[in-house]
Amino acid sequence: IQAAPAGAVSALDWPELQAVVEACRACGLCESRRQTVFGVGHHQAHWMLVGEAPGEQEDLQGEPFVGKAGQLLDNMLRAVGLTREQAEPARQVYIANVLKCRPPGNRNPDPQEVQRCEPFLQRQVELVRPRLILAMGRFAVQSLLKTSEPIGRLRGKSHHYHGVPVVVTYHPAYLLRNPLDKARAWEDLCLARELIQAAA
Ligand code: URA
Repeated sequence: IQAAPAGAVSALDWPELQAVVEACRACGLCESRRQTVFGVGHHQAHWMLVGEAPGEQEDLQGEPFVGKAGQLLDNMLRAVGLTREQAEPARQVYIANVLKCRPPGNRNPDPQEVQRCEPFLQRQVELVRPRLILAMGRFAVQSLLKTSEPIGRLRGKSHHYHGVPVVVTYHPAYLLRNPLDKARAWEDLCLARELIQAAA
């Protein structure tokens, strides 16, 4: 296991960053992953979505949110006119996770794993320079906003990550288990859309 990449990442361009992620051995997850899951989407997307970590399907396919939670996410995105397919930046999303490697059995990320992986997400945000970040779930929220406040207390207003507005919402996997909260997630997406439109 090598030391965290931290400062070294802040000057990398897209291909360099992706190569560093693919070669990363900064935490124990490199031993169990099938592959790293870097992120996907338009490099000038107006929206950036941040999840937790790859699950089984993502670890197999190398792309974020391609399992059941991803299907729900795609449906929700479509409902506000967004897509992960090729489209103009205003309609496309860039999707990334806090962790680039799957925790075994989809266990929660541990603090050291989050800390070591955070510079990659930070660089992705710097490179995309999105107009808005949607932080999905507890681990995305904790990593971006450095707070342990519950999502229910953070929803409904705009926060900031390095100058980029952040809207907090539930993780799609949580919504699969708690479908009644889908209405709240819908409100969060609408808030995000309003913030983006107001800033345009
Ligand atoms: N859950 C996440 O947080 N990210 C994924 O990519 C898939 C499931």
